[in-house]
Amino acid sequence: MRCSRCARTGAGSSAGGSAVSAGAPLVSVEGLAKHYGDVHVFRGVSLQVERGEFVAIVGESGVGKSTLLNCLAGLDDWDEGRITLAGQDLSTLDDTRRALLRRSQVGFVFQAFHVLPHLDVAQNVGLPLLLLGRPHAQRVEAMLEAVGLAGLGPRLPQQLSGGQLQRVAIARALVHSPPLLLADEPTGNLDPSTAEQVLDVLIERTRSERASLVLVTHSQAAAVRADRVLRLTAEGIRPA
Ligand SMILES: Nc1ncnc2c1ncn2[C@@H]1O[C@H](COP(=O)(O)OP(=O)(O)O)[C@@H](O)[C@H]1O
Ligand SMILES: [Mg+2]
Repeated sequence: MRCSRCARTGAGSSAGGSAVSAGAPLVSVEGLAKHYGDVHVFRGVSLQVERGEFVAIVGESGVGKSTLLNCLAGLDDWDEGRITLAGQDLSTLDDTRRALLRRSQVGFVFQAFHVLPHLDVAQNVGLPLLLLGRPHAQRVEAMLEAVGLAGLGPRLPQQLSGGQLQRVAIARALVHSPPLLLADEPTGNLDPSTAEQVLDVLIERTRSERASLVLVTHSQAAAVRADRVLRLTAEGIRPA
């Protein structure tokens, strides 16, 4: 959803121009505020995510965790503040440029898997590579093996369990080696034992790909494995 009140500062600047210095954070959020009409969601949200860092975000239901992740991915707009992703100020990018930046820089894992039902497992995992114009069957096969799904490429999603579907989603989110993985309660639909195994895969794969991970979770077990845990409230985000 787009919000007409969002400032589009620096609309004339280039989407591809700015160089990213090696030490710059991958994600920088300054003073973010978001509301839906009269409903205030959060304000004063500032955080930085370094390259390779694993940040867990916790908070009450409805406080805006999914909204924040969607903003980080440029999938949603905000009302105040600034988000910089890989050196690009998202507010300077139109929807097409945001989509192109997201395609190369971000992998997303959702609670509800969002695996495409009419594509087989290998086609689902290979989709980001296809969209980037660089299909790579061996890379897809290697990712399937890495998440414990070796040999299941020809299966349709309906032939998989929930835990297997989330492994497909993890493989798909990382197959094109994005520097940022966003995961929104990725184990929320799984039983505790499957959740633990899927979480292991998610963290281990993200670490081995050297990607940053921003994980929204209610799981204490997940949060303790993060480099930092932040709590989102209506008035900002703080160390938990
Ligand atoms: N498209 C929308 N229109 C209006 N209100 C919304 C919309 N999406 C989310 N909200 C509201 O914004 C708040 C934050 O939602 P959400 O980001 O889903 O919270 P969380 O992920 O922390 O549970 C909630 O009060 C929710 O009802
Ligand atoms: Mg949510």
